[in-house]
Order: sequence, then structure tokens, then C-alpha cells
Amino acid sequence: AGIEFGLDAPYAVEYHDRIASTNERARELASDGADGVAVVADEQTGSRGRLDREWVAPSGGVWLSLAVRPDAPPARAPLFTLAAAVATADACREAGVDAHIKWPNDVLVGESESGDDGEGDGDADPGGRGGRKVAGILTEMEGEADRISWIVPGIGVNANVDAEALPAGATSLCEELGEPVDRRRFAATLIERFAALAGTADRMDRILPAWRERASTLGRRVRVDTPNGPVTGTAVDVEPPGALVIETDEGVRRVHAGDCEHLRD
Ligand code: BTN
Repeated sequence: AGIEFGLDAPYAVEYHDRIASTNERARELASDGADGVAVVADEQTGSRGRLDREWVAPSGGVWLSLAVRPDAPPARAPLFTLAAAVATADACREAGVDAHIKWPNDVLVGESESGDDGEGDGDADPGGRGGRKVAGILTEMEGEADRISWIVPGIGVNANVDAEALPAGATSLCEELGEPVDRRRFAATLIERFAALAGTADRMDRILPAWRERASTLGRRVRVDTPNGPVTGTAVDVEPPGALVIETDEGVRRVHAGDCEHLRD
């Protein structure tokens, strides 16, 4: 651990060739008082995904968790996850991969803008099944009644991961580009973008507009599997602090958590 990361970012970086989970390490650091530390690993042996799912994290990825102690109430926590998704999409785009965000925080490629079913996109979606996932985010936090104690957005990017090592429905930046990406530069961009959006309370007003601009969910027909059952309709907006607004046959519903699937229009 601890190689020179060469990062021009407002975060200190702790690098590991191999670690169980960068989220676990960042939680440890954050609960000990660290604020503004990025834990980055080449490989994870015990990584976790959302909803207790496994997350495959072989050598070649950008497995990155941010330890943050923001001065913000727990109600704003979802904004940090959305900011991490925006930062990840921007880093993918800077690397040359046209990435969009699927609510709340999956980063996909091979999918067109909101409301467009991808016609004319030719080989971008050969299976016709929508986007391929290039990155996912798992945020963990601890809060008191009025203030977040710490929050750890954990970002998994299939950067230079070989196709054979990817789960179904996933892709990697190197698969898309046909060559490896510079992972240090990618991580630096991601961290800088995150810090710019989530660094201060007044800047946080920019997170939702930035998220909307990069989302492929708005304007689409979706099905969200929520803890209270599925909600199907057209996704029309995302509202503070991150709820998806869906127009259904029974009226407008707001969903706060769940798995979102983009349906064919
Ligand atoms: C998802 O299920 O889509 C979220 C996956 C999040 C994986 C990342 S990799 C870095 C960090 N450490 C973990 O153990 N998980 C997250």
C-alpha cells in the first residue's frame, strides 16, 4: 500500500494492490475521523455490491471509496451518491467512453440519451437489451439525528478488466475503447469532479442538474422494483434528495430506493 499516486486532487489517496474491500477500509478511516481520503485498489477479494449482491473486482479495475465527513443533514445523503455517479460518468467520458447514468447510480454505456430508444445507434447495442454496466456505486453512511457522521461512496469501475472476467450485462472501459485506460488519470478526474460537486453545501445545488444532464433514465419507460413492490411507468424527473418521479397509470409515484430497469419504449 501507499505508492505515489501523482494525483492533483484535494483528497489524500491510499492505494492498495489488493484489499478485501475499499469500502470497509474507507469506513474504518472515516469513523476514525478522516475526511477527504480516497482508498483505491487494483483488486478486491471481498467486495460488496448493492442489495447484498456480490461485486466482481479482479485486478485491472478502479475500485475506489471516498471517506467523507460532510457538514450536512442525513436527508442529503442521497446527493453524495448522485454526485459520485456524475463524477464517474464524467471520468468515463473524459476517457472517451460515452456513459450515462441509470437511476439511481449505475453507469452504463451503449445506451442513448433519455427517451431515445437508440435507433440509429447500430452496433452500440447489439443485443438490443439496453446499456451495459461499466460502473456501480455502493454508499454506506453513519448519521446522527441532524448530521451525517461519515459517508463512504464506494465506486466500482470496470476499467481495464478483461471481458472474460466480467459478469453478464457488464462491460469495461478497455473493452469499449479497445485499449487500456490510464487509471490514475481516471481516478484523479473522478475525485476532482466529486470534490467539486460535493465539497461545499452551496455547490450541492448543482448535483441534481448535473445528474439530470447525464441521465438516460428520464423520459423512459421504467420498472423499479422497490421494497414495496414494482412501480412501472414513465420516469419524468429526479427530485431532492434523489427520488425518481414516475408517471404511472394510477398517478404520479415517487420512489426512493430500488432496482430500476429501462423498458423498451
Ligand atoms: C453495485 O452493486 O452496483 C455497486 C457496486 C459497488 C462496488 C464498489 S468497488 C469499490 C467499493 N468497495 C466495495 O466493496 N464495493 C464498492
